[in-house]
Amino acid sequence: MLKDYWYIACKAADIQRGPVAFTAFEQPLVAFLGRNDKPAVLIDRCAHRNAPLSEGAVREGLLVCPYHGWSYDTDGSLAVLPVCPASSAATTPVSTDATKTASINIAVDSWPCVEQDGYIWFCLSHQPATEKPQPFAHMQEPGWTSFTMDTLFDAPVDTCLENFLDCPHATFVHRHWFRTPTLKQVKAEVRINWDGAEAEYFDEPREQSVVWSLLTRKKSTMRHIDRFIAPATSRVDYDFSDSRYYVITSSCTPVNETQTRVHTVVTFRFGSFGRLVRFFFKPLSMRIIKQDVEIVRQQQANIDRFGGRRYRVIPQDLLYRHIVQWRNSIEKGEPLPSEAPPETINLVL
Ligand code: FES
Ligand SMILES: [Fe+2]
Repeated sequence: MLKDYWYIACKAADIQRGPVAFTAFEQPLVAFLGRNDKPAVLIDRCAHRNAPLSEGAVREGLLVCPYHGWSYDTDGSLAVLPVCPASSAATTPVSTDATKTASINIAVDSWPCVEQDGYIWFCLSHQPATEKPQPFAHMQEPGWTSFTMDTLFDAPVDTCLENFLDCPHATFVHRHWFRTPTLKQVKAEVRINWDGAEAEYFDEPREQSVVWSLLTRKKSTMRHIDRFIAPATSRVDYDFSDSRYYVITSSCTPVNETQTRVHTVVTFRFGSFGRLVRFFFKPLSMRIIKQDVEIVRQQQANIDRFGGRRYRVIPQDLLYRHIVQWRNSIEKGEPLPSEAPPETINLVL
């Protein structure tokens, strides 16, 4: 099931300021920082009269409902019920049936939650597929700099992932900024990994674009791999012979069937000016991502206008098939795609 995996709720710094509302898999949720700095994710609905807990406050590590002050612990259990004498929620007679009272324990749904790499991660299953979320590459390593971006796409997760891992769109959508058509034929090798699939490009052109001229040296050689990590992550590596290295990882949290919250981490090693590079690299990346937001919005709006998808898939759509196959297998609980010999595909960029 797709819900067995870890997804990002928000930045860890956000819950330092108070509860944070977000939606995933169509569920309204709230993240907050509980006792002993333990992060938590609960359903965003008070058990009493269903007020949104995210509009409340955190006091002494408990999430306090804004309406009558019922206060919840990180496991979702009701810890304080202000109107009841002795304020012991567990023994207070209450009922979900308005006409009766019965002695029950009160709790709201809570989900596994951890802080990692500066983000709050949650899993909407009590048995996550992996013990922890997958770490972002090189993020904590000396010599590397990173910055993050948070973007809402009006499209489902697979559409976003395909966009992030698709080279041919760059010569149209990001022309001059990222790629300019050279009509050069290049080779790509597509491989199945244990956790997804990847495409490596050989002899790809990198002329006449703002990004390449600012971030690379002409003489260096480049290794470029686009990687899909099932079910909801894309990772793009550009590794240069002069020891510059860029990794762009995007972690997709499905808001609902038509919206995806994308948390992108750009990690890079640039030599002595690494930290300064961020000052133009980030605005440049934001500009490029905006172009993707717009084309994907147009794509999805048109799909909706026609009442559904009707795609033609060609071999040069290198990773699309794999994204769909892996996500379908996970969703249906079927065996995951197994290893296969690498495929070589020619394409023109
Ligand atoms: S609605 Fe939350 S305490 Fe009443
Ligand atoms: Fe793009």
